Amino acid sequence: MRDDEIRQRLEELGQPYLAEYRAEYRLVSAGLSAARMIHSLGVAATAAHLAEKFGCDPAQAYLAGLCHDAAKELPVAEMRALLQRSPLGGDADVLAHKSLWHAPAGSIWLADHQAEYPRLDAAIQSACLWHTLGKPAMTPLEQIVFIADLIEPGRDFPDLAEIRAAADISLTRGMTACMYGVIHFLEVRGQFVHPLAYAGYEYYKGLQ
Ligand SMILES: [Fe+2]
Ligand SMILES: [Fe+2]
Repeated sequence: MRDDEIRQRLEELGQPYLAEYRAEYRLVSAGLSAARMIHSLGVAATAAHLAEKFGCDPAQAYLAGLCHDAAKELPVAEMRALLQRSPLGGDADVLAHKSLWHAPAGSIWLADHQAEYPRLDAAIQSACLWHTLGKPAMTPLEQIVFIADLIEPGRDFPDLAEIRAAADISLTRGMTACMYGVIHFLEVRGQFVHPLAYAGYEYYKGLQ
């Protein structure tokens, strides 16, 4: 998708909750590049749209999308320290793959800011925690952020049209298509696939 098409799609989706979450936007954007913030706004708006469509809270989904990559550009040592305090901190497969660190690290980063920003609550933290790996039996909010991260307007990769079409039908169909897409993408490149990703894919395929 070209830049002007991305801009147009972002405008169509709108940013209806940005004013409401101005404080959280400032907090997250202080640590992220402009390109990452544009991605995050795309995920937030897409998450709000999915939430509206599938009967969840669009404002909460918007906030979760806005915050999902909060730790992505932290220095590696800081990211590792946060990861080690997270529920995935003892997972040898996660520890061995740096690309899997920012989601669990981000969940703890958000928890550390919750006292000052109470809306960064456990639901938002868990949506951040699982947005890269996925797993069986995720909450609707976790699923929404997982899907939105892959299908937001700025994304462009083969099979995206099919994945977007699946996500338009149901969260289960969207999760199945997204998890298949992620696994396939990694496998063809000979990259590591975490066992939870396979388990998640089997789980959502079984629900269809
Ligand atoms: Fe991410
Ligand atoms: Fe992301």
